[in-house]
Amino acid sequence: MGSPRAPAPASLSDAESQKHAAAHAAAALVSDGARVGLGTGSTVAYLLPALAARGLSLRCVATSPATECTARELGLAVEELDELGRLDIAIDGADQIDPQGWLVKGGGGAHTREKIVAAAAERFVVIASAEKAVPSLRPPVPLEILRFGAHPTLALLGEAVLRDAPPSPEGNLIADYLGPVDDPRALAARLSGTPGVVDHGLFAPELISDILIAGAGGVEHRTL
Ligand code: 5RP
Repeated sequence: MGSPRAPAPASLSDAESQKHAAAHAAAALVSDGARVGLGTGSTVAYLLPALAARGLSLRCVATSPATECTARELGLAVEELDELGRLDIAIDGADQIDPQGWLVKGGGGAHTREKIVAAAAERFVVIASAEKAVPSLRPPVPLEILRFGAHPTLALLGEAVLRDAPPSPEGNLIADYLGPVDDPRALAARLSGTPGVVDHGLFAPELISDILIAGAGGVEHRTL
């Protein structure tokens, strides 16, 4: 059985080493028999082999086809969220983390599934390199919007543009809100209340249990 705290390969840049460290610290939080939500992105790409190396008996849910494919290749059992219902733990990356624990997610356009999986988990653990910690959130805030009426939806939002990206697994469009993010709670309510917006990439602190931010001095573990 491999160690979840394996050292990062020397060839990795500082940021990649930090992603590796945060991911390996999170893998160590997973217990045998757990139902685990797997996020999406380059930080989660270090989590998947770290989890697989632990040799635990896990039942996993993936937040994107890419994560599902990699997890299966590594021998992790992936099931539908509807089959598992509640999850014991979900682990995911973030694009920005502010001092209050607000996140911006969805750089990979997977934020709708990621938020559903985070909300289904008893414990939602965020993993990131130090560059993701910011003094205050800034645009863009990713959006998933319905194809139907996409342009009126964007017009209602004001400062928002369609992203040149593949559609979500549900066939919806990915867009970015470019206006100010000074008040994330008010903005989250406004985005959620806009017809045609399926979900947005603002994650509130109450959704989050742990934040593991890796920096030059090691992994800082914040609990919320
Ligand atoms: C995907 C996400 C990712 O978690 C976020 O973009 C961070 O990605 P990375 O770990 O590659 O920096 O929200 O929708």
